[in-house]
Amino acid sequence: MAIAITPVTFIRKKIKSVSNATMVVGGNMTTNFNETFAGNKIITAYNLQENQNQKFENQIRTQFSLAMALTKRVGWMSPIMYFICSIGIAIVMNYGNSLILSGEMTAGAFASFVTSLLLLYKPTKSLGLTLTSLQNTFVAMARVFELFDLMPEIVNVNNPKKFQNIGSGIRFSHVNFEYEENQPVLRDFSLDVSPNETIALVGNSGGGKSTVVNLIPRFYDIKSGSITINGTELKDYDLVSLRNNISFVFQDNYLFTGTLRENILMGKPDATEAEIEKSVKLAHLDEFLDTLPEGIDTVVGERGASLSGGQRQRVAIARAIIKNAPIVILDEATSALDNESEAVVQKALDNLIKNKTVFVIAHRLSTINNADRIAVLQEGVLVELGTHDELINKPNGKYRHLYEMQFSTAGV
Ligand SMILES: Nc1ncnc2c1ncn2[C@@H]1O[C@H](COP(=O)(O)OP(=O)(O)OP(=O)(O)O)[C@@H](O)[C@H]1O
Ligand SMILES: [Mg+2]
Repeated sequence: MAIAITPVTFIRKKIKSVSNATMVVGGNMTTNFNETFAGNKIITAYNLQENQNQKFENQIRTQFSLAMALTKRVGWMSPIMYFICSIGIAIVMNYGNSLILSGEMTAGAFASFVTSLLLLYKPTKSLGLTLTSLQNTFVAMARVFELFDLMPEIVNVNNPKKFQNIGSGIRFSHVNFEYEENQPVLRDFSLDVSPNETIALVGNSGGGKSTVVNLIPRFYDIKSGSITINGTELKDYDLVSLRNNISFVFQDNYLFTGTLRENILMGKPDATEAEIEKSVKLAHLDEFLDTLPEGIDTVVGERGASLSGGQRQRVAIARAIIKNAPIVILDEATSALDNESEAVVQKALDNLIKNKTVFVIAHRLSTINNADRIAVLQEGVLVELGTHDELINKPNGKYRHLYEMQFSTAGV
């Protein structure tokens, strides 16, 4: 028995790297599988089926060779166990034989001993396999616990403050921020936003507009400087109460599998029927819902696949309206809507931002026109701030340039 246990203790070291690699390839295969379905339109449009097949085949081959490597490493276990067990039995037989011959043991007692020994043979032999798969499990478990042990970086401070109201407004003061070390994204960014003011953020793509608004619900913490609401640092607020007071309409609006109603209710799970109706109306979704046989209980499909871009946007707006938070963040989709849907979406947005403090990343002229002030961001630096009239009259101004480039061709 002691000899039989020995090889098992070597196994873990031998299979660890291969086991790990197998799990990584398994993960990649799942990613590839999901992407193939989620990106099926692009794959079809660009004739990438063969590419995807090839990618999948390569992964299967890698997995196959890893499985072979694993087999090579553990395959010797079974014969060795057989061998050790057989030798053990041979020794017992031999020794038993001499005991019977010398009369120290009866043949019956020996036969019953051998029978029980044979019963032990199978479990001992399979001990190797069981322990191998147990070791495999340990390797997998280590990977899982590695992830469990990760701590979120954004957490509450001790004794966080509950968010009461927006009070004196939102103040960014000398904010520096980077996603990757030493690659500054926002540089010395300062901005004061009064309660109920609408600030439009404009600027070049990659300039840092989405980054600025992502800092307000504390999706990321800043590197230096401060962001305060009503004089209190963001990080001193209780995260849940802070986020409860911010409505977000994202650049790419994500709808969840389920009905339109369920998607809207995410803004306020305990909303009444009247509240739902009101937000649907304000989001200008009612006409669209009337065309659906199942109305608000229509299932939208994965990611809202059965809706148009403008419809998805209005569902997201309804979700934000029903939440009725004092701070509203709109990261406008860049996709151009036709004039009519743009007008409808704009009306929905107007309803959403009434009497709210609003940050809007504007790609549409109509939104910019409605803003109280415009902040121009370039490469993470606030280069201009003012009303449309102030900025448009600046000779060689950045806003003026952007405006001419982006909007003058839009027939305005
Ligand atoms: N999660 C991230 N990790 C690392 N870098 C990021 C991340 N998100 C954005 N960035 C980088 O930060 C910079 C600012 O990006 P941001 O999304 O704020 O731009 P933007 O002004 O919103 O652009 P757009 O108008 O195209 O939406 C870009 O250079 C981008 O590559
Ligand atoms: Mg953006």
